[in-house]
Amino acid sequence: MLKKRYPYYLANRPVMADSQLDVHDKYSGRRVARVAMADAGTVRKAIVAAHKARDAMAAFTPDARRDVLEHCVRRFGERSEELARALCIEAGKPIRDARGEVARLIDTFRIAAGEATRIEGETIELQLSPRTRGYRGITRRVPVGVCSFITPFNFPLNLVAHKVAPAIAAGCPFVLKPAAKTPLGALIIAEVLAETDLPRGAFSVLPCSNEDAAQLVEDERIALLSFTGGPIGWELKARAGRKKVTLELGGNAACIVDADPGASLDHVVERLVFGAYYQSGQSCISVQRIYAHAAVYDKLRRKLKAAVGKLRMGDPGDEATFIGPMIDEDAAIRVASWIDQARKAGAKLIAGGTREGNLLPASLLEKVPRDALLNRCEAFGPVALLEPFEDFDAAIDAVNDSEFGLQAGVFTGRLDHAMRAWDRLDVGGVIVGDVPSFRVDNMPYGGVKHSGLGREGVRHAIADMTEPRLLVIRTV
Ligand code: SIN
Repeated sequence: MLKKRYPYYLANRPVMADSQLDVHDKYSGRRVARVAMADAGTVRKAIVAAHKARDAMAAFTPDARRDVLEHCVRRFGERSEELARALCIEAGKPIRDARGEVARLIDTFRIAAGEATRIEGETIELQLSPRTRGYRGITRRVPVGVCSFITPFNFPLNLVAHKVAPAIAAGCPFVLKPAAKTPLGALIIAEVLAETDLPRGAFSVLPCSNEDAAQLVEDERIALLSFTGGPIGWELKARAGRKKVTLELGGNAACIVDADPGASLDHVVERLVFGAYYQSGQSCISVQRIYAHAAVYDKLRRKLKAAVGKLRMGDPGDEATFIGPMIDEDAAIRVASWIDQARKAGAKLIAGGTREGNLLPASLLEKVPRDALLNRCEAFGPVALLEPFEDFDAAIDAVNDSEFGLQAGVFTGRLDHAMRAWDRLDVGGVIVGDVPSFRVDNMPYGGVKHSGLGREGVRHAIADMTEPRLLVIRTV
């Protein structure tokens, strides 16, 4: 179903290039496709074309933007199984997670189609004193101009969608660099965009080297940079000059299970297992730290151990597989070494197994020292740690004892605890009654501390990609 060769998209048009990037099946290791690679000159041309397209994109009416987004919704629906299979192969994402991501891709574009005709300004009362009699103020939101986007490997469709769909709704031309390991999703999105009547230059999707992508960070014609990835994001921000910058940089998300979790422990276990291990933990909001009240700790531990032991690992194309491969062997070696390091420092393995290449069995540990990498850093792998607490505020302190702050989950049957968590947890989002891994694509999504800057979630991204332009009218 995959093509053998994929073009890149320069100023809305497909281009085959001599320079090629190999895309591998992350389970078999086989090369499955070759993708055209853009060079520095092509990246420059894309920026020039996008800069020229600013006025045409701003004048492209909201209903026309909505129509483009609705076309994408329709086409992604028609091509959903192809998209899911592409994800399964290029990212090693278990097929059921891959189908879930395609459903979210469609949601994200559908939400953006709705927002495209709802980008509104405000009227401002200016008559505050005799000096301002007869003045009225009105704002409308105008597109910021060219946006550059850099996207990660773990959601090759939906994290591309979270940048591209708001940009179209806002009327911003853009240049996107997809992750080198998973470029196909973005290129299929570009193929569908090329079917529309977006103004020439409105979009370019260019697999390229990090060196050639430097222009996407530094070029002064670009008004906004949106980056999802690792801590390097802060370095990009330092080089971005006067651009607006949005960063989504991950975390070591935590979940509290209170003495009264507000749901059956079986339900809590089902959600924790999903949150910690879906797509092998390669999500910025996967559950990495579980703090369980002493009253439920032993029971939760027993149930988690049993549930984790049952997770099927193997071919992501198999409907029964829960744990597929990690993105590459280096990633699996790193996470396995963090587990070993924690065990040497006194941690106890509750569930786990031996790494096979880039397949790492789901692991659960307890008594992990606070200063272990597994506790302090983002694991981005199928591993979680369990720790007991006696006092709810101490659990909140433990969650906050992190450089990161993206989302946190809280299972509690107590309203006062839910509110205290919302008051005190230093994160971008508190999810009561579920794991931190919960996300709906219209939610404001982003973190504090090292986790990033700004918010995505379609309406919030549109707010960043537009700015208010004021009109003052004086009538005598
Ligand atoms: C992420 O890994 O940041 C995205 C998580 C999600 O969209 O579910």
